[in-house]
Amino acid sequence: MKKSIFLTIIILTISLLSGCSRANEITSANSAEVISDNKSSGSITIGFSQVGAESDWRNINTESMKKSLSADNGYSLIYDDGQQKQQNQIIAIRTFIQKEVDYIVLAPVIEDGWNTVLAEAKDAGIPVILVDRKVNVEDNELFTCWVGSDFELEGRKVCEWLNEYCKANAIDAENINIVNIKGTEGASAELGRSRSLHKAVNKYGWNLLDEASGDFTQAKGREVMAGFLRKHKDINVVYCENDNEAFGAIDAIEAAGKKAGNDIMHGEIMILAFDGSTEQAINEIRNGRISCIGECNPLHGPRVEKIISNLEKGIIPDKYEYVDEDIFSADTSVKTITLDDISYNIVTP
Ligand code: AHR
Repeated sequence: MKKSIFLTIIILTISLLSGCSRANEITSANSAEVISDNKSSGSITIGFSQVGAESDWRNINTESMKKSLSADNGYSLIYDDGQQKQQNQIIAIRTFIQKEVDYIVLAPVIEDGWNTVLAEAKDAGIPVILVDRKVNVEDNELFTCWVGSDFELEGRKVCEWLNEYCKANAIDAENINIVNIKGTEGASAELGRSRSLHKAVNKYGWNLLDEASGDFTQAKGREVMAGFLRKHKDINVVYCENDNEAFGAIDAIEAAGKKAGNDIMHGEIMILAFDGSTEQAINEIRNGRISCIGECNPLHGPRVEKIISNLEKGIIPDKYEYVDEDIFSADTSVKTITLDDISYNIVTP
């Protein structure tokens, strides 16, 4: 039996046994052999290259995409988990091209390094829709459009919240000692959020003690925070570039016998984070272990589906579609923040 047929049978058997078999949804895990499509049924074939499953946000995002690009909605979805590796995503895109999908949807792990493979997609005449993070390419015609969050704005909101908190509680900038648990280096979400922190540190005069990547995962967030706590005795603010890193940081803080909370002039360590997409994160806001979260909305499935259905009707989408997002905190000393003359109310869960 040929390897490809053998693998196809295994995959079909697993999906039937798990009770989640859908004729239109094939998880390839970078194995080109197992991909099949349903073009004969007249559905629109989509190859979706996802970053991975590094965070709760990502898992919610994957579900949203699968739900919107479903058989019921007329799609045949080829899903590929890139496992946080750009090389896997490049292989997936080449497989999609070979399979002559109708559209490629790419959630790129990092911004750089996409020129060649996106040019191959363009040469094959396959439109590429970017979701969540952006790419840094020489020619913006290599992709049709992008939809996602303004990561720099998210970072500015959280930093401005910290500035307002300091003002409201008479805390001098020189008393703020921050460490930054960065996301995956080179990812739009890391670049934007880090850029905003660096600008705010310069603007307000806070002390940035250290930075290291937690790769947007809970385990790495814990490890990085434990290292920071061993190295620096006076940390009182942690800027976590997503909620899972924040959960890991809280574990490390408590394991070191310290407390996560707002009272930074009396030994507590303030946690700032991003996403706010799970009940767990919102509960951490309510119980005060996370002080502020800049929302990052993961529900891109319906947005991408709308772009594709519009393209099918000949409607050209906006090149960039930014999602509106909130800022969450249970602290009542800051009610609004203002950036570029726009006021944002702080949402108290
Ligand atoms: O690109 C969006 C970021 O990626 C989210 O903040 C994070 O949780 C995810 O892994």
